[in-house]
Amino acid sequence: MCGITGYIGHKDAAPILLKSLKRMEYRGYDSAGISTIHKDKIIIKKDIGRIDSINEKIQLGEAEGKIGVAHTRWATHGGVTKENAHPHLSCNKEVILVHNGIIENYRKLLKGLSNNHNFQSQTDSEVISHLIEEEYNKLKDPIKTLQNISKKLNGSFALIVIFSDRANEIYGVRKYAPLIVGIGENENFISSDIVSFIDYTDNVIFLEDKEIVKVTQNSIEILNFDGDKITRDKTHVAWEAADISKEEFSHHTIKEIHEQSSTVKTALNQDKEEFEKFVNELLSGKNIFITGSGSSFHIALIFKKMLTKFVKSQVQAFLSSESEEYRELMDENSILIPISQSGETADLHEVIRNLKDKGVTILSIYNTIGSSLSRVSDISLNLNCGPEIGVAATKSFTSQLAIVYKIIFELGKVKDGNEKIEELSEQIKEIISNEKSLHEIIELLNESNDVYFLGRSIHHPIALEGALKLKELAYIHAEGMAAGEIKHGTLALVEEGTPAIIINPKDESYEDTMNNAIEMKARGAKIIGISVEDNEAYDYWIKIPKVDNILYPLIELIPLQLLAYYTAIRRKNNPDYPRNLAKSVTVK
Ligand code: G6P
Repeated sequence: MCGITGYIGHKDAAPILLKSLKRMEYRGYDSAGISTIHKDKIIIKKDIGRIDSINEKIQLGEAEGKIGVAHTRWATHGGVTKENAHPHLSCNKEVILVHNGIIENYRKLLKGLSNNHNFQSQTDSEVISHLIEEEYNKLKDPIKTLQNISKKLNGSFALIVIFSDRANEIYGVRKYAPLIVGIGENENFISSDIVSFIDYTDNVIFLEDKEIVKVTQNSIEILNFDGDKITRDKTHVAWEAADISKEEFSHHTIKEIHEQSSTVKTALNQDKEEFEKFVNELLSGKNIFITGSGSSFHIALIFKKMLTKFVKSQVQAFLSSESEEYRELMDENSILIPISQSGETADLHEVIRNLKDKGVTILSIYNTIGSSLSRVSDISLNLNCGPEIGVAATKSFTSQLAIVYKIIFELGKVKDGNEKIEELSEQIKEIISNEKSLHEIIELLNESNDVYFLGRSIHHPIALEGALKLKELAYIHAEGMAAGEIKHGTLALVEEGTPAIIINPKDESYEDTMNNAIEMKARGAKIIGISVEDNEAYDYWIKIPKVDNILYPLIELIPLQLLAYYTAIRRKNNPDYPRNLAKSVTVK
């Protein structure tokens, strides 16, 4: 949610910041702004809308100055208005601030401010700029000011601050929201995400929670909230800038759907030792808890279903936003497996916080290099699928699933497990090459208000994921269901022509699911069967190749992703940036 970035160096800041904003647009895209300082003058440009359209209107990239900050917003406090867009200035323009996160006690803090402040916006963020100004006027010391103010702020935040009387310095503050410093030559960067500056440098320093950084053109100094100096080595990140381009595709989402034929294979490239440690922990007899949000939660559900067959301990899967009772149950005999593409989801970190003190072992599965999740885990496995830019998870989902398969095959002592997973690559290509055959179904979905996705057993989480994709991309109400549950409510909603997508490859759940499809059809539903073979109950059949039963979830998902993507295109939605959503959900 929200992307923040800052630049200081020998080049013009605004074009660099503009490019950074474009790279981080997945984090929020309802408004954006840039502020630079040139010859003691503060330039501030901001507006509502997508970055390209704002830029066309007010030329964000043409602000002068070699120092600046920028922000792309996903509104939380305060509506989508120009005034609420960042950067925010304090009253007498001493402080320029961009913020990612939520300040939970901002109303209380507002009351504590003197009456002389003149507010321009309805945001929690603007309060911080006024607080900083008041403190700075007393102390005249930026670090001490930021330490004192940070300790007063409740909630999650990453801040980038410029004090206008110190136009050779940028400050960053991190507490429970990502912030990374990019080390350039004669220039430095600070940002929510590496992708924003990866064109300029791949040497980075990851800030930890409760740290403040002072960045100049040639220096980086880190301190914690108590003022202790921190020494931290730089990390070299290997991501290529090319990974972020759309190449010949019209959207990142479809590029990422296509990429899955290779990313299911790269997911298997795990450090042997780490992987073995991960698997051995699962066999240690400790109780296992798996958590995630959105698509990552659907993987948690599949993982649980599969893992239960191989370990003696209890396995539970839960939504990160609904963690209370599970947190209570966890102790030193527990393993928590957080699953997350971004590694930054606020609800997930809320689950993890303090669990380490209780002795819980954290084994994570994540994608974003250097993310907070990777750094709080005892052992972590990386998806290796490269940056995922489309807001809806696609390749990260199948990479997570590939890793789950790798673990399950290891536990089941399946010798050719990796080969089996690698073979999925060709099957993914085959399904994608048949995408034209989905045309009629896309027309049906486009004309529908409600769509039901049904699956049993390991196909149930795929029904949930298929429905989520259609909701996110096509803006059609969709419900993923355990197929056996239709009798408990859903049948009342079925009308003539209601589409029901039945996930039904040929495995032990086939007959029962088929019966549910027939029950839906008898009430007028149009049945779209996803299966290895046709059936007279299907009005439309989406053919999938025959694979080992355990591997069907990955294969059957691909047509569902394609349906969601092309229905979005049919409806002229932008599938990369669905309305009101953000990729990295760093607020609770
Ligand atoms: C957002 C994204 C989803 C993602 C979910 C969890 O809602 O749009 O695609 O599944 O967050 O994100 P995570 O990064 O934790 O996997």
